[in-house]
Amino acid sequence: MKTISGKPLSKIGIGSYGIGGRGHRDMPLTDKKDDSVYIETLAHMISSGLNFTELSMGYGHGNSVSLFKWALEKSGVAREDLFLTNSLYPRDLPNVKTINDDISSFYSVLETNYADSTLVTQSLLIKFGEETIYDILTNLLEDGKTRYVSLSNAKSEYIIKFKEHFKDKFFAHEGHLSFEVRLLEDSGVFQTCRKLAVENIIWRPLRRNQTSNHNWKLLNDLALKYDKTPNQIILNWMCYDGFRPMVMSSNKAHIDENLESLNFTMVAKDYKLIRDFRAQKPSGSFNLEENSIVELVNNFEKYN
Ligand SMILES: NC(=O)c1ccc[n+]([C@@H]2O[C@H](COP(=O)([O-])OP(=O)(O)OC[C@H]3O[C@@H](n4cnc5c(N)ncnc54)[C@H](OP(=O)(O)O)[C@@H]3O)[C@@H](O)[C@H]2O)c1
Repeated sequence: MKTISGKPLSKIGIGSYGIGGRGHRDMPLTDKKDDSVYIETLAHMISSGLNFTELSMGYGHGNSVSLFKWALEKSGVAREDLFLTNSLYPRDLPNVKTINDDISSFYSVLETNYADSTLVTQSLLIKFGEETIYDILTNLLEDGKTRYVSLSNAKSEYIIKFKEHFKDKFFAHEGHLSFEVRLLEDSGVFQTCRKLAVENIIWRPLRRNQTSNHNWKLLNDLALKYDKTPNQIILNWMCYDGFRPMVMSSNKAHIDENLESLNFTMVAKDYKLIRDFRAQKPSGSFNLEENSIVELVNNFEKYN
């Protein structure tokens, strides 16, 4: 997959939830820093070659997309050199009009006439009906308003149907993978995507640094062996295995640390150790509905 200007996608992408404060439109906004911090750090990521992201008009009560636009200007990188996904989440979209309003706002705030991909979740398909959402996406594709379409937090059966419908316009499935939470690997979702040539993009790959803070022995041993940090071991493993993790950061030192994760290779048996690792209690009591995954990812320590 490439940007419209022909640049291959970077191995790591830019996470944008939390830019301009944490919270969707239907939640209170927390952890908000000064706008200049986000502009500075996003511009640093873009200038360093990270060239794909998913944005949502609902993130940070709308701040996230406008801050991204300012950061893009500051970076001096052309919009055509980036692959921008517009994500539509059902939680703060009560009706079809609000979906269409969000789509229009995405283009006007970013001053662009296309999205590289438009993403919907399985829960959005269920909330409004597949036919309605497929029609919206088909119109966007036909009008040249989106180059591709993507899906998030879906079961294999939804991924297969989406592929049958959108064929080679289906860019990516965005799902969760972390050192501890392997639900999508163990339920075959990642394998389905690989089989269908759909990119596996990973959300919350560092579990917001909670994985590192957990002090897993295997991660710490590998970090010591390769003189890297646990977060670098995690990102290196995911990229080596063909996943595309998206990481959010508003801290330059963290961004540089994450970029460094691409500059080394581990021996095959160490990748296998990580791949084979399962946390003590498999998360079997969780189903694949979106909220359950988010709940498990955020509160893994509570359940294990
Ligand atoms: N499709 C979906 O349903 C879905 C769900 C959740 C998220 N997402 C997307 O996925 C993106 C990534 O997920 P996320 O932001 O929730 O989690 P994440 O990328 O795993 O973690 C981000 C957090 O970790 C910290 N961090 C990053 N690098 C670090 C490092 N090297 N050392 C220490 N701390 C570090 C950041 O703090 P600092 O700012 O201090 O660096 C930030 O608080 C989101 O931004 C969003 O775009 C999609």
